Amino acid sequence: MKKILVIQPIHEAGIELIKNNPDYEFEVIENTDIEFLKSKIKDCDGVSIRTAKLAGEVIDCANKLKIISRHGVGYDNINLESTKKNNITLAITATANAVAVAEHVMFMLLNISKKGNMYDETVKSGKFNDRNKLPKTVELWNKNILIAGFGRIGQALIKRCHGFEMKVFVYDPFVSKEMIEKHGGIKVDNLEEASKDMDAISLHVPLNEKTKNIINYDLLKNMKKNCIIINAARGGVINEIDLDKALNENLILGAGLDVFEIEPPDPNNPLLKNNKVFLSPHTAAFTEECMTRMGKETIQNIIDFFDDKLEKSNLFLRIQMGLLLQDLVPPLLPTIQNNFFSSIHQTMACNQYIHHQEL
Ligand SMILES: NC(=O)c1ccc[n+]([C@@H]2O[C@H](COP(=O)([O-])OP(=O)(O)OC[C@H]3O[C@@H](n4cnc5c(N)ncnc54)[C@H](O)[C@@H]3O)[C@@H](O)[C@H]2O)c1
Repeated sequence: MKKILVIQPIHEAGIELIKNNPDYEFEVIENTDIEFLKSKIKDCDGVSIRTAKLAGEVIDCANKLKIISRHGVGYDNINLESTKKNNITLAITATANAVAVAEHVMFMLLNISKKGNMYDETVKSGKFNDRNKLPKTVELWNKNILIAGFGRIGQALIKRCHGFEMKVFVYDPFVSKEMIEKHGGIKVDNLEEASKDMDAISLHVPLNEKTKNIINYDLLKNMKKNCIIINAARGGVINEIDLDKALNENLILGAGLDVFEIEPPDPNNPLLKNNKVFLSPHTAAFTEECMTRMGKETIQNIIDFFDDKLEKSNLFLRIQMGLLLQDLVPPLLPTIQNNFFSSIHQTMACNQYIHHQEL
Protein backbone atom coordinates (compact mmCIF):
# COMPACT_ATOMS: atom_id res chain seq x y z
CA MET A 1 0.00 0.00 0.00
CA LYS A 2 1.32 3.44 -0.98
CA LYS A 3 1.32 6.23 1.55
CA ILE A 4 0.33 9.70 0.31
CA LEU A 5 0.93 12.86 2.29
CA VAL A 6 -1.48 15.64 1.34
CA ILE A 7 0.28 18.80 2.46
CA GLN A 8 -2.41 21.48 2.80
CA PRO A 9 -6.04 20.44 2.29
CA ILE A 10 -7.38 20.09 -1.24
CA HIS A 11 -10.89 19.76 -2.67
CA GLU A 12 -12.76 16.71 -1.39
CA ALA A 13 -13.19 15.52 -4.98
CA GLY A 14 -9.44 14.82 -5.04
CA ILE A 15 -9.43 13.00 -1.72
CA GLU A 16 -12.33 10.83 -2.95
CA LEU A 17 -9.97 9.31 -5.52
CA ILE A 18 -7.84 7.67 -2.85
CA LYS A 19 -10.33 7.43 0.01
CA ASN A 20 -11.71 4.07 -0.98
CA ASN A 21 -8.75 2.92 -3.00
CA PRO A 22 -7.17 -0.19 -1.42
CA ASP A 23 -3.79 0.69 -2.98
CA TYR A 24 -3.45 3.92 -1.02
CA GLU A 25 -3.50 5.30 2.48
CA PHE A 26 -3.28 9.03 3.04
CA GLU A 27 -2.98 11.80 5.58
CA VAL A 28 -3.95 15.45 5.13
CA ILE A 29 -1.86 17.93 7.10
CA GLU A 30 -2.16 21.70 7.52
CA ASN A 31 0.99 22.35 9.54
CA THR A 32 3.78 23.21 7.12
CA ASP A 33 6.57 23.86 9.62
CA ILE A 34 9.80 22.43 8.33
CA GLU A 35 10.43 20.04 11.26
CA PHE A 36 6.86 18.74 11.13
CA LEU A 37 7.12 18.14 7.39
CA LYS A 38 10.40 16.27 7.88
CA SER A 39 8.80 13.92 10.39
CA LYS A 40 5.75 13.31 8.19
CA ILE A 41 7.42 12.90 4.81
CA LYS A 42 9.88 10.21 5.93
CA ASP A 43 7.85 7.15 4.98
CA CYS A 44 5.70 8.56 2.18
CA ASP A 45 5.62 7.33 -1.41
CA GLY A 46 3.85 10.38 -2.81
CA VAL A 47 3.20 13.95 -1.77
CA SER A 48 0.68 16.51 -2.89
CA ILE A 49 1.52 20.12 -2.16
CA ARG A 50 -0.14 23.48 -2.67
CA THR A 51 1.80 26.68 -2.00
CA ALA A 52 3.84 25.66 1.05
CA LYS A 53 7.59 25.56 0.65
CA LEU A 54 9.08 22.11 0.13
CA ALA A 55 12.67 22.75 1.14
CA GLY A 56 15.64 20.61 0.12
CA GLU A 57 16.18 19.36 3.67
CA VAL A 58 12.57 18.14 3.79
CA ILE A 59 12.83 16.33 0.45
CA ASP A 60 16.17 14.82 1.50
CA CYS A 61 14.41 13.16 4.49
CA ALA A 62 11.93 11.37 2.25
CA ASN A 63 13.55 7.98 1.82
CA LYS A 64 10.73 6.40 -0.20
CA LEU A 65 9.34 9.43 -2.02
CA LYS A 66 8.82 8.90 -5.75
CA ILE A 67 6.46 11.71 -6.76
CA ILE A 68 5.71 15.27 -5.74
CA SER A 69 2.40 16.39 -7.20
CA ARG A 70 1.91 20.17 -7.31
CA HIS A 71 -1.63 21.49 -6.89
CA GLY A 72 -1.14 24.20 -9.53
CA VAL A 73 1.41 24.94 -12.23
CA GLY A 74 4.11 27.05 -10.56
CA TYR A 75 6.94 25.08 -8.97
CA ASP A 76 9.04 27.82 -7.38
CA ASN A 77 8.11 26.51 -3.90
CA ILE A 78 9.77 23.14 -4.58
CA ASN A 79 13.52 22.62 -4.25
CA LEU A 80 14.35 21.27 -7.71
CA GLU A 81 17.93 20.30 -6.91
CA SER A 82 16.83 17.91 -4.15
CA THR A 83 13.98 16.64 -6.30
CA LYS A 84 16.47 15.74 -8.99
CA LYS A 85 19.13 14.41 -6.64
CA ASN A 86 16.64 12.02 -5.05
CA ASN A 87 15.21 10.84 -8.39
CA ILE A 88 11.76 12.17 -7.64
CA THR A 89 9.22 13.00 -10.35
CA LEU A 90 7.48 16.36 -10.18
CA ALA A 91 4.02 16.69 -11.68
CA ILE A 92 1.84 19.77 -12.13
CA THR A 93 -1.87 20.26 -12.83
CA ALA A 94 -1.06 21.65 -16.22
CA THR A 95 -4.41 22.66 -17.64
CA ALA A 96 -6.62 22.95 -14.57
CA ASN A 97 -6.36 26.64 -13.76
CA ALA A 98 -5.75 28.63 -16.95
CA VAL A 99 -9.37 29.69 -17.48
CA ALA A 100 -9.89 30.70 -13.84
CA VAL A 101 -6.75 32.86 -13.84
CA ALA A 102 -7.56 34.42 -17.23
CA GLU A 103 -11.06 35.32 -15.99
CA HIS A 104 -9.52 36.82 -12.86
CA VAL A 105 -7.29 39.03 -15.00
CA MET A 106 -10.33 40.32 -16.90
CA PHE A 107 -12.11 40.90 -13.58
CA MET A 108 -9.17 42.97 -12.28
CA LEU A 109 -8.78 44.86 -15.53
CA LEU A 110 -12.49 45.70 -15.61
CA ASN A 111 -12.64 46.58 -11.92
CA ILE A 112 -9.81 49.09 -12.29
CA SER A 113 -11.05 50.53 -15.61
CA LYS A 114 -14.63 50.81 -14.36
CA LYS A 115 -13.67 52.01 -10.88
CA GLY A 116 -15.69 49.16 -9.42
CA ASN A 117 -14.81 49.76 -5.78
CA MET A 118 -15.41 53.51 -5.97
CA TYR A 119 -18.82 53.18 -7.64
CA ASP A 120 -19.92 50.53 -5.18
CA GLU A 121 -18.82 52.64 -2.22
CA THR A 122 -20.53 55.75 -3.64
CA VAL A 123 -23.94 54.12 -3.82
CA LYS A 124 -23.65 52.28 -0.51
CA SER A 125 -22.62 55.42 1.33
CA GLY A 126 -25.66 57.36 0.06
CA LYS A 127 -23.71 59.54 -2.39
CA PHE A 128 -25.58 58.51 -5.53
CA ASN A 129 -26.07 62.15 -6.52
CA ASP A 130 -22.30 62.66 -6.63
CA ARG A 131 -22.09 60.50 -9.73
CA ASN A 132 -21.26 63.40 -12.04
CA LYS A 133 -18.35 64.41 -9.83
CA LEU A 134 -16.69 61.00 -9.94
CA PRO A 135 -13.68 60.41 -12.20
CA LYS A 136 -14.58 58.94 -15.58
CA THR A 137 -14.00 55.28 -16.31
CA VAL A 138 -12.29 53.85 -19.39
CA GLU A 139 -13.23 51.22 -21.95
CA LEU A 140 -11.23 48.17 -22.90
CA TRP A 141 -12.45 48.41 -26.48
CA ASN A 142 -9.68 49.12 -28.99
CA LYS A 143 -7.02 49.30 -26.28
CA ASN A 144 -3.54 47.77 -26.50
CA ILE A 145 -2.75 44.99 -24.08
CA LEU A 146 0.58 43.21 -23.71
CA ILE A 147 0.54 39.63 -22.48
CA ALA A 148 3.98 38.73 -21.09
CA GLY A 149 4.31 34.95 -21.02
CA PHE A 150 2.24 33.07 -23.60
CA GLY A 151 1.76 29.67 -22.03
CA ARG A 152 -1.48 28.14 -20.86
CA ILE A 153 -2.79 31.22 -19.06
CA GLY A 154 -1.56 33.72 -21.64
CA GLN A 155 -3.32 31.70 -24.34
CA ALA A 156 -6.55 31.54 -22.34
CA LEU A 157 -6.34 35.29 -21.75
CA ILE A 158 -5.92 36.30 -25.39
CA LYS A 159 -9.34 34.84 -26.25
CA ARG A 160 -10.97 36.93 -23.53
CA CYS A 161 -9.14 40.07 -24.65
CA HIS A 162 -10.34 39.50 -28.20
CA GLY A 163 -13.87 39.22 -26.80
CA PHE A 164 -13.45 42.83 -25.68
CA GLU A 165 -11.96 43.76 -29.06
CA MET A 166 -8.59 44.65 -27.60
CA LYS A 167 -5.41 44.66 -29.69
CA VAL A 168 -3.17 42.00 -28.18
CA PHE A 169 0.64 42.07 -28.19
CA VAL A 170 2.63 39.14 -26.84
CA TYR A 171 6.07 39.08 -25.28
CA ASP A 172 7.45 35.56 -24.95
CA PRO A 173 10.90 34.78 -26.34
CA PHE A 174 10.13 31.04 -26.23
CA VAL A 175 7.04 31.18 -28.44
CA SER A 176 7.25 31.64 -32.21
CA LYS A 177 5.73 34.51 -34.17
CA GLU A 178 3.65 31.94 -36.10
CA MET A 179 2.17 30.47 -32.93
CA ILE A 180 1.33 33.93 -31.56
CA GLU A 181 -0.22 35.02 -34.85
CA LYS A 182 -2.24 31.81 -34.98
CA HIS A 183 -3.84 32.98 -31.73
CA GLY A 184 -4.46 36.46 -33.14
CA GLY A 185 -1.61 38.17 -31.26
CA ILE A 186 1.28 40.35 -32.40
CA LYS A 187 4.72 39.18 -31.28
CA VAL A 188 7.02 41.76 -29.71
CA ASP A 189 10.68 41.10 -29.00
CA ASN A 190 11.55 44.02 -26.79
CA LEU A 191 9.59 44.36 -23.58
CA GLU A 192 10.92 47.82 -22.82
CA GLU A 193 9.98 49.26 -26.20
CA ALA A 194 6.60 47.53 -26.38
CA SER A 195 5.50 48.56 -22.90
CA LYS A 196 5.68 52.25 -23.88
CA ASP A 197 2.57 51.90 -26.07
CA MET A 198 0.40 49.73 -23.87
CA ASP A 199 -2.87 50.55 -22.12
CA ALA A 200 -2.62 47.31 -20.15
CA ILE A 201 0.03 44.74 -19.34
CA SER A 202 -0.68 41.32 -17.87
CA LEU A 203 2.08 39.07 -16.55
CA HIS A 204 2.05 35.31 -17.02
CA VAL A 205 5.70 34.32 -16.76
CA PRO A 206 7.18 31.95 -14.19
CA LEU A 207 9.29 33.49 -11.45
CA ASN A 208 12.97 32.87 -12.07
CA GLU A 209 16.20 34.84 -12.17
CA LYS A 210 15.33 36.19 -15.64
CA THR A 211 11.82 37.35 -14.75
CA LYS A 212 12.47 38.70 -11.24
CA ASN A 213 11.67 42.45 -11.20
CA ILE A 214 10.97 42.34 -14.94
CA ILE A 215 8.61 45.27 -14.24
CA ASN A 216 10.70 47.93 -12.55
CA TYR A 217 10.90 51.71 -12.30
CA ASP A 218 12.94 52.05 -15.50
CA LEU A 219 10.11 50.43 -17.42
CA LEU A 220 7.29 52.03 -15.45
CA LYS A 221 8.56 55.57 -15.98
CA ASN A 222 8.20 55.24 -19.75
CA MET A 223 4.73 53.71 -19.81
CA LYS A 224 1.52 55.46 -20.83
CA LYS A 225 -0.13 57.33 -17.95
CA ASN A 226 -3.32 55.33 -18.43
CA CYS A 227 -1.59 51.94 -18.31
CA ILE A 228 -2.97 49.25 -16.00
CA ILE A 229 -0.68 46.42 -14.89
CA ILE A 230 -2.00 43.08 -13.71
CA ASN A 231 0.10 40.48 -11.94
CA ALA A 232 -1.55 37.11 -11.38
CA ALA A 233 1.73 35.24 -11.98
CA ARG A 234 4.10 35.44 -9.04
CA GLY A 235 5.13 38.17 -6.63
CA GLY A 236 8.66 39.31 -7.39
CA VAL A 237 7.99 39.61 -11.11
CA ILE A 238 7.03 43.23 -10.37
CA ASN A 239 9.26 45.25 -8.08
CA GLU A 240 6.68 46.29 -5.47
CA ILE A 241 8.53 49.38 -4.21
CA ASP A 242 8.98 50.63 -7.78
CA LEU A 243 5.31 49.99 -8.52
CA ASP A 244 4.17 51.95 -5.47
CA LYS A 245 6.46 54.83 -6.44
CA ALA A 246 5.21 54.85 -10.05
CA LEU A 247 1.57 54.87 -8.93
CA ASN A 248 2.19 57.70 -6.49
CA GLU A 249 3.92 59.70 -9.22
CA ASN A 250 0.93 59.05 -11.55
CA LEU A 251 3.19 57.34 -14.07
CA ILE A 252 0.53 54.66 -14.62
CA LEU A 253 -3.19 54.44 -13.85
CA GLY A 254 -3.44 51.40 -11.63
CA ALA A 255 -2.42 47.86 -10.84
CA GLY A 256 -4.19 44.63 -10.01
CA LEU A 257 -2.21 42.19 -7.91
CA ASP A 258 -3.17 38.66 -6.97
CA VAL A 259 0.34 37.73 -5.84
CA PHE A 260 3.00 39.29 -3.63
CA GLU A 261 6.70 38.99 -3.11
CA ILE A 262 6.04 37.86 0.45
CA GLU A 263 2.75 36.07 1.10
CA PRO A 264 0.88 37.10 3.12
CA PRO A 265 2.21 40.60 2.41
CA ASP A 266 3.95 42.49 5.17
CA PRO A 267 1.42 44.82 6.87
CA ASN A 268 3.87 47.66 6.14
CA ASN A 269 3.88 46.94 2.40
CA PRO A 270 2.91 50.38 1.00
CA LEU A 271 0.81 48.82 -1.75
CA LEU A 272 -1.74 47.72 0.86
CA LYS A 273 -2.60 51.37 1.45
CA ASN A 274 -2.40 52.52 -2.15
CA ASN A 275 -5.91 53.10 -3.51
CA LYS A 276 -4.71 52.80 -7.10
CA VAL A 277 -4.13 49.12 -6.47
CA PHE A 278 -6.78 46.42 -6.53
CA LEU A 279 -5.75 43.32 -4.60
CA SER A 280 -6.78 39.70 -4.14
CA PRO A 281 -5.16 37.15 -1.80
CA HIS A 282 -3.63 34.78 -4.40
CA THR A 283 -7.11 33.54 -5.26
CA ALA A 284 -7.14 33.85 -9.04
CA ALA A 285 -7.61 30.11 -9.33
CA PHE A 286 -10.05 29.78 -6.44
CA THR A 287 -13.20 29.14 -8.41
CA GLU A 288 -15.25 26.17 -7.29
CA GLU A 289 -14.74 24.60 -10.71
CA CYS A 290 -11.00 25.13 -10.73
CA MET A 291 -10.44 23.90 -7.17
CA THR A 292 -12.36 20.74 -8.04
CA ARG A 293 -10.27 20.22 -11.19
CA MET A 294 -6.98 20.91 -9.40
CA GLY A 295 -7.80 18.68 -6.42
CA LYS A 296 -8.70 15.80 -8.70
CA GLU A 297 -5.79 16.29 -11.08
CA THR A 298 -3.25 16.54 -8.24
CA ILE A 299 -4.25 13.14 -6.86
CA GLN A 300 -4.87 11.60 -10.27
CA ASN A 301 -1.29 12.51 -11.22
CA ILE A 302 -0.02 10.47 -8.25
CA ILE A 303 -2.21 7.49 -9.15
CA ASP A 304 -1.25 7.74 -12.83
CA PHE A 305 2.41 7.95 -11.92
CA PHE A 306 2.27 4.69 -9.97
CA ASP A 307 0.26 3.14 -12.82
CA ASP A 308 2.96 4.40 -15.21
CA LYS A 309 0.55 6.48 -17.28
CA LEU A 310 1.13 10.04 -16.14
CA GLU A 311 0.10 12.59 -18.79
CA LYS A 312 3.15 14.10 -20.51
CA SER A 313 1.74 17.60 -20.14
CA ASN A 314 1.50 17.12 -16.38
CA LEU A 315 5.07 15.96 -16.09
CA PHE A 316 7.67 18.41 -15.04
CA LEU A 317 10.67 16.34 -14.05
CA ARG A 318 11.03 12.74 -15.04
CA ILE A 319 14.38 11.42 -14.15
CA GLN A 320 13.66 8.07 -12.68
CA MET A 321 15.49 4.98 -13.83
CA GLY A 322 17.77 7.05 -16.00
CA LEU A 323 14.88 7.93 -18.30
CA LEU A 324 15.47 11.59 -18.95
CA LEU A 325 13.33 13.42 -21.42
CA GLN A 326 14.48 11.64 -24.55
CA ASP A 327 10.98 10.66 -25.51
CA LEU A 328 9.61 14.11 -24.86
CA VAL A 329 12.11 16.62 -26.17
CA PRO A 330 14.29 15.06 -28.87
CA PRO A 331 15.26 18.36 -30.57
CA LEU A 332 16.67 19.71 -27.33
CA LEU A 333 18.57 16.56 -26.56
CA PRO A 334 22.10 17.77 -27.30
CA THR A 335 21.74 20.63 -24.84
CA ILE A 336 19.98 18.47 -22.32
CA GLN A 337 22.48 15.65 -22.48
CA ASN A 338 25.43 17.85 -21.66
CA ASN A 339 24.21 19.11 -18.38
CA PHE A 340 20.50 18.98 -18.26
CA PHE A 341 20.01 19.90 -14.66
CA SER A 342 23.02 22.15 -14.25
CA SER A 343 20.73 25.11 -13.92
CA ILE A 344 17.09 25.61 -13.21
CA HIS A 345 16.96 27.68 -16.36
CA GLN A 346 17.68 24.84 -18.70
CA THR A 347 15.13 22.76 -16.87
CA MET A 348 12.56 25.44 -17.49
CA ALA A 349 13.42 25.70 -21.14
CA CYS A 350 12.57 22.03 -21.49
CA ASN A 351 9.40 22.48 -19.53
CA GLN A 352 8.34 25.27 -21.84
CA TYR A 353 9.15 23.11 -24.83
CA ILE A 354 6.93 20.33 -23.57
CA HIS A 355 4.04 22.68 -22.88
CA HIS A 356 4.24 24.29 -26.27
CA GLN A 357 4.16 20.94 -27.98
CA GLU A 358 1.15 19.98 -25.94
CA LEU A 359 -0.87 23.16 -26.27
N1 LIG B 1 -2.37 33.54 -9.35
C1 LIG B 1 -2.52 32.24 -9.37
O1 LIG B 1 -3.27 31.66 -8.61
C2 LIG B 1 -1.76 31.44 -10.40
C3 LIG B 1 -2.32 30.26 -10.89
C4 LIG B 1 -1.62 29.57 -11.87
C5 LIG B 1 -0.41 30.01 -12.30
N2 LIG B 1 0.12 31.15 -11.78
C6 LIG B 1 1.41 31.65 -12.27
O2 LIG B 1 1.26 31.98 -13.62
C7 LIG B 1 2.45 31.58 -14.33
C8 LIG B 1 2.05 31.22 -15.73
O3 LIG B 1 1.29 30.02 -15.70
P1 LIG B 1 1.07 29.15 -17.02
O4 LIG B 1 0.27 27.97 -16.64
O5 LIG B 1 0.59 30.00 -18.13
O6 LIG B 1 2.58 28.71 -17.28
P2 LIG B 1 3.24 28.19 -18.63
O7 LIG B 1 4.47 27.49 -18.22
O8 LIG B 1 2.22 27.49 -19.46
O9 LIG B 1 3.61 29.55 -19.39
C9 LIG B 1 4.62 30.40 -18.98
C10 LIG B 1 5.09 31.15 -20.22
O10 LIG B 1 6.09 32.10 -19.82
C11 LIG B 1 7.07 32.14 -20.85
N3 LIG B 1 8.30 32.68 -20.32
C12 LIG B 1 9.25 32.06 -19.58
N4 LIG B 1 10.25 32.91 -19.30
C13 LIG B 1 9.93 34.09 -19.89
C14 LIG B 1 10.57 35.35 -19.98
N5 LIG B 1 11.75 35.57 -19.38
N6 LIG B 1 9.95 36.35 -20.66
C15 LIG B 1 8.74 36.13 -21.24
N7 LIG B 1 8.10 34.94 -21.23
C16 LIG B 1 8.68 33.94 -20.55
C17 LIG B 1 7.20 30.72 -21.31
O11 LIG B 1 7.75 30.60 -22.59
C18 LIG B 1 5.75 30.23 -21.25
O12 LIG B 1 5.13 30.37 -22.50
C19 LIG B 1 2.97 30.37 -13.55
O13 LIG B 1 4.34 30.25 -13.68
C20 LIG B 1 2.55 30.65 -12.13
O14 LIG B 1 3.64 31.27 -11.48
C21 LIG B 1 -0.53 31.86 -10.84
